Amino acid sequence: VLAIWHQLIKTEIPELAKGSVLMRERSRVEETINAMQRAGAGNLQVISDFDMTLTRFAHNGKRVPTTHNILDNRLLINEDCTLKMRELLNTYYPIEIDASRSAEEKLPFMVEWWTKVHELLIQQKIRKDMLAQAVKESNTMLRDGYKVFFEHLSEHQVPLLIFSAGVGDVLEEVIRQNHVFHPNVHIISNYMDFDQTGVLQAFKGQLIHTFNKREGALSHAAGLRELQGRPNVLLLGDSLGDLTMADGVSEPQNILTIGFLNDQVEERKESYINSFDIVLVKDETMDVQNAILRFIT
Ligand code: C5P
Ligand code: MG
Repeated sequence: VLAIWHQLIKTEIPELAKGSVLMRERSRVEETINAMQRAGAGNLQVISDFDMTLTRFAHNGKRVPTTHNILDNRLLINEDCTLKMRELLNTYYPIEIDASRSAEEKLPFMVEWWTKVHELLIQQKIRKDMLAQAVKESNTMLRDGYKVFFEHLSEHQVPLLIFSAGVGDVLEEVIRQNHVFHPNVHIISNYMDFDQTGVLQAFKGQLIHTFNKREGALSHAAGLRELQGRPNVLLLGDSLGDLTMADGVSEPQNILTIGFLNDQVEERKESYINSFDIVLVKDETMDVQNAILRFIT
């Protein structure tokens, strides 16, 4: 029976043979996909990271901005703040993606980075009504095939939880401007807190950074009614920290994890292959996810 399944997967999901696709254990991937297909759309939820997972890493050789980087616009912050934020990025991003350090070692640095950046942003008295324009003027870009991805999930009423350590208000504006903010989309992120005049005064709730998503999963995602009774999870991320995003799912049955390996490819390849079921190397598309979703729903 297994051999027939393998054959089926091969013909139904030829995208898994793309050169950018790496798998530690192909047979396990195929078994999981088959189990998900038998259980159908009604048992499925998709949990995805945002920056560098739903958005592209680069386009025409230039980095695509994260939600934090979209705020780097004169409408919102001054030059001094830009310089300070870039300095922080140059200090902490290499730590975030350092293959030689564990998540535990990185954690305090991430808290430092996010805390400092949020403090800088609050000092800038950012206006809520300027965010949409900043997103319009940015070079943000969702991955190729994003429309099919969002439309397919919406059509089949599969909840999509976007779990981001970025800035929620900016994230929402990005998906709104791309016309894919459908009712099945739920977001957990760092949201801005504006005063009555619409000026940024704080960030709401517990800070989310790259390596504490497990806490957010347990405190927020676990409580989302729309995600209840869906034991099969397709998880998408670009950081090893994203793997904990499904930790709040109660009684999970089949979890398939897909990781985008965008940067420091050689240094991180081994750990990504050991951690994600499917690794997509420098793949700027949603082709593999879309093909899997087409097959299982
Ligand atoms: O959506 P996601 O969880 O991926 O958002 C977090 C990403 O934003 C991190 O991978 C980090 O590199 C990036 N970031 C940034 N500027 C900051 C803080 C985080 O670009 N100040
Ligand atoms: Mg990310």
